[in-house]
Amino acid sequence: MKVSIIGAGRVGSAAAFSMLHQLNLDELVLIDIIEDLAEGEALDIKQASYALGNPVVTYGGNDYTHVSGSDVSVIIAGKPRTADMDRMQLIEINTKIVSGIAKNIVEHNPDGIIVVVTNPMDVMTYVAWKASGLPRHRVFGMGGLLDTARLHSIGYEGVVIGEHGRTKVPLVDNPVTVAEEVSKVNDKVIALKKGTVYAPAACVAHQVKAVLDDTKEILPCSCILDGEYGVKDVAIGVPARIGRNGVEQIIEEEMTEQHKKMFDASVEKVRRGVEKALSVM
Ligand code: 2OP
Repeated sequence: MKVSIIGAGRVGSAAAFSMLHQLNLDELVLIDIIEDLAEGEALDIKQASYALGNPVVTYGGNDYTHVSGSDVSVIIAGKPRTADMDRMQLIEINTKIVSGIAKNIVEHNPDGIIVVVTNPMDVMTYVAWKASGLPRHRVFGMGGLLDTARLHSIGYEGVVIGEHGRTKVPLVDNPVTVAEEVSKVNDKVIALKKGTVYAPAACVAHQVKAVLDDTKEILPCSCILDGEYGVKDVAIGVPARIGRNGVEQIIEEEMTEQHKKMFDASVEKVRRGVEKALSVM
C-alpha cells in the first residue's frame, strides 16, 4: 500500500508518523515545496519504521512523479489559521495552493483517492474535487472525525457534522452550546501551542486506514453532496461509509428541527466560501 502526503509541516509529518502506527504501508511519500523539509521528514520516518519493526520505503522532496501509484494522497499543505481567525479567511491563499496540488496529483496519479485536510477544509475539499476532475466519491475531507474526537474528549457522545468550523453541528442535546465548547477546546490548543498537530494527524491516519483496509466504517467526513440531505454541489461534513473506493455511501442522519436548521446554515456558510474560492480558481 502506498500513501502520499502533500505538506511535510507539523501536521503532515505527524500524520506520516501516525500512519506508521495505524497502517501497514509499503511506501510513504512526503511532498513539500521546502524540499529539504520533506526529505528530512521522510528519512526520519523511514528510520522510525525500522525502529517499529515495520520498514517502509519513503521518499521526501518536491517531485510529484513520486505520487504515482498512491492508493491515497493527502493534501495538508497550506497556510494555517491563528486562534482568532475563522478558517474562511484562508480561502484566497489556500485555494491557489490546493487547486495546484490537486492538478499535480492527478497528473501523476489519476486512479487514487484524495483526502483533504487544508483549511477551510470543506471549501478546500470542493476545490480539490473541481481541480482534480475526479468522481466525487474519490475526494473527501477530514474534519468531522476531528471535531467528534474533541466532542468525546470533553465528555459528550455522538457525532459532529456540518462545517469543520464555527457552524459545526454536534448531533447532541443543546447543540449550540456544545458546538461552542468544541470550538473553544480547538482554539485553546492553537492559542497554547500555535497549532493543532496530533489530533488532526491521528484522524487523517484513521480515515486513510478506512480506505486502505476497506473497513466500510461510517465516519463523519466532508463529502461532495449531490442531492443527499436536499443539498447539491457543496462539500460538507456528513456520516459516510468509507472503504477501498472512498466514499461508498452517504448516510442521511435523522435530525431534530434545531439540528436541521444549524446544518442548513452550515451548508450556506460553506457554499458562500465555495463561491469565493471559485472566483479565484
Ligand atoms: C483543526 O481543527 C487543523 O482544522 C484543523 O485542528
